[in-house]
Amino acid sequence: MTFTGLFSTTYAAPDMKEAKRFFSDWGLKKIAEQRDGVIFETSLGCQVIIRPPGSSLLPVAAREGMNFREMVWGVSSKTHLAKIKQELSRDRKIDIHTDGSIHTYDPAGIGLGFRVWNPPKANKETSRASINSYDKTERVNEIGAAYQQALPLRMGHIGFLVPDLKEEEKFYRERLGFWLSDRYVGGAAFFLRCAAKSQHHNLFMIWSESGALRHHHTAYEVRDFHEVFGGGVAFDRKGWETEVGPGRHPISSAYFWYFKNPCEGAVEYYTDSDYLTEEWKPHNYRVNRFSEWHLVDGIPLPEEQRIRPSMSAAGKY
Ligand SMILES: [Fe+2]
Repeated sequence: MTFTGLFSTTYAAPDMKEAKRFFSDWGLKKIAEQRDGVIFETSLGCQVIIRPPGSSLLPVAAREGMNFREMVWGVSSKTHLAKIKQELSRDRKIDIHTDGSIHTYDPAGIGLGFRVWNPPKANKETSRASINSYDKTERVNEIGAAYQQALPLRMGHIGFLVPDLKEEEKFYRERLGFWLSDRYVGGAAFFLRCAAKSQHHNLFMIWSESGALRHHHTAYEVRDFHEVFGGGVAFDRKGWETEVGPGRHPISSAYFWYFKNPCEGAVEYYTDSDYLTEEWKPHNYRVNRFSEWHLVDGIPLPEEQRIRPSMSAAGKY
């Protein structure tokens, strides 16, 4: 009985055409489209749902004007789902959807849901490229992997800026059983994982100095660092703007590349995160350091080589 990861995220999209083009260029597959929304999927079946801001199907915004609306976490069994429902219904309203998923809001008002979801096992399609190093030769008489387009496997983590970190940490750890991985001293941020054995973090929250609640970013795991760089260059060439990267995080050790999401916040390609178990001892980091190294503007190409997608290209959807 455990959480299996972040299953879906839902946004209100102020410009549906632009948002459709964005997530399609990002490497997600469109699996459904109706007037009131579009569903995209990663290769392991995580979903991104975008809806017009006026859609009655959107969960309520945590604050006025916030386009991020909901995160849904996968759980391994109906028994776990029932336990979460029982626990959370003690002090909040729970909606049950026809697919069996349950939906509510966290203490900050962020839309929060749960459903049974067991991601597929790793296979040849999900495996990283082989690597050669001085001590190990994995690739012999074979040219290394090159990616013309990233195809994200899953959404590995999500982050928010919140005014009251203590209340959020208490909720996710005590009510849902998330594990503390690391934090910054003085209550500046915490990193949680949804299961004892998991990548370094699945949910992180940073204290919002301004008091404004904000979705920070959602991270999409790709197969290896070749895909972070190859996918990032391809996305840049399609005209989407780098927020920060490529670079390497000191916390989690992952390689990353962030791009601005026209719906809200950012999206991140990442790979090679630390993986923790019950044995891990959380740190209290003194210095709030986002990256070990990074380029602020990615690797911009000369202007004449940049391809800007036109609105007519978006019309194919
Ligand atoms: Fe991240």
